[in-house]
Amino acid sequence: MILIPIPDSFLNELVDRNDIVDVVSSYVRLSKKSGSNLFGLCPFHSEKTPSFSVSPDKQIYHCFGCGKGGGVINFIMEIENLSFRDAVEFLARRVNMTVPEEANDRESQKRSRMLALNKEAARFFYTQLSTPGGEEARRYMAQRRIGPATAKNFGVGYAPDSWESLRNAMRDKGFSDQELFEAGLVRRGKTSGFYDTFRKRLMFPVIDVRGNVIGFSGRILGDGEPKYMNSPETLVFNKSQNLFALNLAKKSKSGYIILSEGNIDVVSLHQAGFDSAVASLGTSLTPEQARLLSRYTGEVIIAYDNDGAGVKAAQRAIGILEKLDLKVKVLALTGAKDPDEFIKLRGPDAFRKLLEGSEDQVDYRLRAVREKYDLSSDEQKVAFLKEASELLARLPGAVERQVYAMRVAELASVKAEAVTDEVERRRKRLLGRARQEQKRAQEQPERQMQPEDRALRYDDPASAAAEQGLIRLLYLEPELSRTDGLPAPEDFSSSALADIYRAVLDKARRGEAISAATLGSSLSSGEMNLLVQLLQQPETLAHGERALTDYINRIRERREQKAGADDLRQLSEKLRQKKGYKG
Ligand code: CTP
Ligand code: MN
Repeated sequence: MILIPIPDSFLNELVDRNDIVDVVSSYVRLSKKSGSNLFGLCPFHSEKTPSFSVSPDKQIYHCFGCGKGGGVINFIMEIENLSFRDAVEFLARRVNMTVPEEANDRESQKRSRMLALNKEAARFFYTQLSTPGGEEARRYMAQRRIGPATAKNFGVGYAPDSWESLRNAMRDKGFSDQELFEAGLVRRGKTSGFYDTFRKRLMFPVIDVRGNVIGFSGRILGDGEPKYMNSPETLVFNKSQNLFALNLAKKSKSGYIILSEGNIDVVSLHQAGFDSAVASLGTSLTPEQARLLSRYTGEVIIAYDNDGAGVKAAQRAIGILEKLDLKVKVLALTGAKDPDEFIKLRGPDAFRKLLEGSEDQVDYRLRAVREKYDLSSDEQKVAFLKEASELLARLPGAVERQVYAMRVAELASVKAEAVTDEVERRRKRLLGRARQEQKRAQEQPERQMQPEDRALRYDDPASAAAEQGLIRLLYLEPELSRTDGLPAPEDFSSSALADIYRAVLDKARRGEAISAATLGSSLSSGEMNLLVQLLQQPETLAHGERALTDYINRIRERREQKAGADDLRQLSEKLRQKKGYKG
């Protein structure tokens, strides 16, 4: 299918009708702060104080923390993880518009083919369960007490003990080896041909929140290594950005999400009526997954395995979750290795009690610290107080700090004030250090102006500053594009800025509207972030022509200097070779 660009006129209308404040508000709680901008907690990185701003005038967003920014289309691309075209369709649907022409680029076509293939594969695995070849899998499921209704609910299936049964079945459905390979369902043999990736495994389809089968987790039947095999990263599957069973858990009415480790734990929890259980896919919880959770719940209850690895993973997860303002509790599993075993041994009611009594995260961490020390020894008591105070000093709420300080004092049988004072002293020190760091960052303007995206870093910040200025001026006043002597994009020191400049210049010269929205199709997301970042800096048209000349001159000077330096380098290189010096 030919890629037909979406006309700017359509994009402009789309953007007009999708006010950025409305759109962003359905993901981020925005409040007015200073000037006309609205602020909220950035949905793209973890933070506690809002540095995400939305400008209703400019119809753009920008995060001062992580540098992400753009127009309403970029926002949807970023937050819904969609391609440019899918984001346009998403917004079009929102306001009842129809994207003109065949709005289907090659990537989104490939994507939908892959999703169709995954769905077929899931169906294939599911039907294998009831064939004679599925006998062993059925026995394993019976042993793990996974009932037919649960299997159906999750689409649990079986990958037969064979090298190409899936491959053959999918080829019969019209999918090529290449497609199967790109979906991670077959692997390339050493000598020739392709073979099934998943063999003799219990198959759990991973389904995203929109209901697409995006990948698979395959568990071995019984013991053995590796216990789990997951789909590799593909066009539609990213382990660190998805959670197993979130498609089901997001519909739960429980008000919290249970985070566990294994797929079997999740399945078993749902079967016992805990329909808000999810698991990460073999990685420890990532910030992306945490953000995804925060879209569906305000509280996460961690129910990891009851072993060293589980405790460590829980502590890491707490750190990530609490940054997102999520209420976090940790389940104290006792007498069982994991939630699945607990339910089998003690029943759902006991598990529910556990949920109700689950500790909040400060308690949990305090207890972990408490258990490290023998409080009958004075020396260890001091060490305990130190560590506990440091922990409490990091709590954002003053009341919280006070309450827990009293508990610590009780534990160590010392006066409450002693602990409170210590905590506040440490907190001051922490804040001081943070402030200093901020100051240091501000004193290094050059470092500040570097793009967030490391791949786009400037080699020549002095020239880049002028290049940025030039782009800003053109953005504000497209008429300036008619000025004589403007540099060519090739004269820029930064290729990212050159791309932006080219796109802006092109639109300006054609007299087309310049906005983050219309530039979106010609810029990469990194470049879009950069554009929005550089638009934040003040620029005025009051002395527009003067500034323009300055920028142009500076770019030319830097370029000439660099050319001179390059010549010199070449010259000395030649000399060196002549003299026979070694490299
Ligand atoms: N794991 C994985 N891929 C998945 C799920 C889990 O690699 N899709 C890994 C986790 O990282 C963790 C372990 O498997 O190391 C957790 O498994 P466990 O809780 O033991 O899995 P269950 O399915 O519950 O299996 P079991 O019946 O043995 O408890
Ligand atoms: Mn388990």
